Amino acid sequence: MSGGSGAVRLASVEDKDTARLVTGIGELDRVLGGGIVAGSTVLIGGDPGIGKSTLLMQAASNLLSHAPVLYVSGEESKPQLKLRAARCGVSGELLVMTETSVSAVEAEVDRVKPAVLIIDSIQTMVCTEVASAAGSITQIREVTSALTRIAKVNGCSVFIVGHVTKEGSIAGPRMLEHMVDTVLYFEGDRHDAFRLLRAVKNRFGSTNEIGIFEMRGDGMAEVSDPSMMFLSGSNDTGCAVTCIMEGNRPILVEVQSLLASSVFANPRRMAAGMDGNRLMLLLAVLERRAGVRTGDKDVYTNVVGGIRADDRGADLAVALAVAGSVFDKRLPERTAVIGELSLTGEIRPVSHMSNRIAECCRRGYTHIIAPRSTGVKAVEGGELITVRNLRDALKLFV
Ligand code: TYD
Ligand code: MG
Repeated sequence: MSGGSGAVRLASVEDKDTARLVTGIGELDRVLGGGIVAGSTVLIGGDPGIGKSTLLMQAASNLLSHAPVLYVSGEESKPQLKLRAARCGVSGELLVMTETSVSAVEAEVDRVKPAVLIIDSIQTMVCTEVASAAGSITQIREVTSALTRIAKVNGCSVFIVGHVTKEGSIAGPRMLEHMVDTVLYFEGDRHDAFRLLRAVKNRFGSTNEIGIFEMRGDGMAEVSDPSMMFLSGSNDTGCAVTCIMEGNRPILVEVQSLLASSVFANPRRMAAGMDGNRLMLLLAVLERRAGVRTGDKDVYTNVVGGIRADDRGADLAVALAVAGSVFDKRLPERTAVIGELSLTGEIRPVSHMSNRIAECCRRGYTHIIAPRSTGVKAVEGGELITVRNLRDALKLFV
C-alpha cells in the first residue's frame, strides 16, 4: 500500500480492530479463518458450475441481518438471480445489481455503503477506460486493482468470483492471486455432490483449513462431519479403507480397484480421485517387491465419493485394493490401512499418524494396519497391526 510515511517500530503500530463478520456458514467461516475481515479481498475460484454463486448468495443472505451486502452479477439476469435465490431460500432483502462496469459498481457502493460486496465474476467485469475485452489479462488486472481500492477506501470486504478452467488456469484468476488477501478454491467432481473449499492463501488465517459442502436441490449444505461420507459401507474384494488428512481434518476414504483382461497392446491404467502416475508406480512396486503382477490387465482405481486422495498415506490402501482384486480376496472386516509405500516395498509412516489412527478407531475400525515406528503404542477400541513391508501386508488377506 502507498502512503507508508517512513519507518516505525512495530510495537508502536496501533492494533487494528480485527472484528470479523461471521457468515453463519460454519465451513466457509472456518476456511476464511473465522469470518470475513473488514476491507479484505477474497478470491473464490473454481470450475464453472461448481457452486460459487450459490454459496456466496447463501452467505450474503445470512449476513443481511447484521450487515448490508451488495451482490453484483455480470453473468446472470435479475430473474435468473431471483430463481436461484428462491431455490436456496435466500432473503428477498438482498440487494442485487446486474452490471459489468466497475465504475458503475463503485458509484453504487458509494450510495449503498455495503459491508460486503460480491463480484460475480471477475471475467465479466470491465474498466471502461481500458480498451481490451472483458476477461483479458489487462482487464482482470485493472478490475482487481479497482476492486482492491474500493475495499480499502470503503472498508468493505470484496468477494471476487473467478472461473478457473483446467486449460486456462494460468491466464485466468491465478494471475490475480497475489493481488488479493485470501484465495479460496472450490474442488470437486461436478458429477458428485461433494465440494471442497480450500484456502490456498490467507493473510488472515491458516491455509490448512478446508470446508466441505454438499450440493443439494436447495443450495450448498455444510458437511460438518465428513469422516464417513466417502465410504461405500461394504467390504468387497478390491476395496481398502484408509484415512487421509485434508488440512487438519482426518477423513476416512475408500479406495476401490478393478482388474479386467486387457484387449489393448498397452493395458489401461485409469485412476479416478488419485494421481495416475502414482498408481503406475504402486503397480510397479507391487510387481517387483511382492510379485503381484498386473502387467497384462487393465487396472482401474477409484476413490469413493469424488474426493481426491493424493495423500501418500493412501499408498498402502491403493496397493492392497489392487492386490485384493488380483487375488480376489478381502481384507478382514473393519480394517483400515495407513502408510506410504517406498520403492523398496517398505511401508513408511506419514504425518499425523496418531490422529489418523484415532479417527479410524473412533469410526469403528477395529484393525488398523500401520507401519512400525508411528509412535502410537496402543489404540482404544481397536488393534494396531504393524507391518514392515508390502509382503507382510499381503499376508493380511483372508
Ligand atoms: P453455481 O453456483 O451457478 O456455480 P458457479 O457459480 O460456480 O458457476 O451452481 C451451478 C450448478 O449447481 C448448476 O449446475 C445447478 C446446481 N445447483 C444445484 O444442484 N442446486 C441448487 O440449489 C442450485 C442453486 C444449483
Ligand atoms: Mg456463477
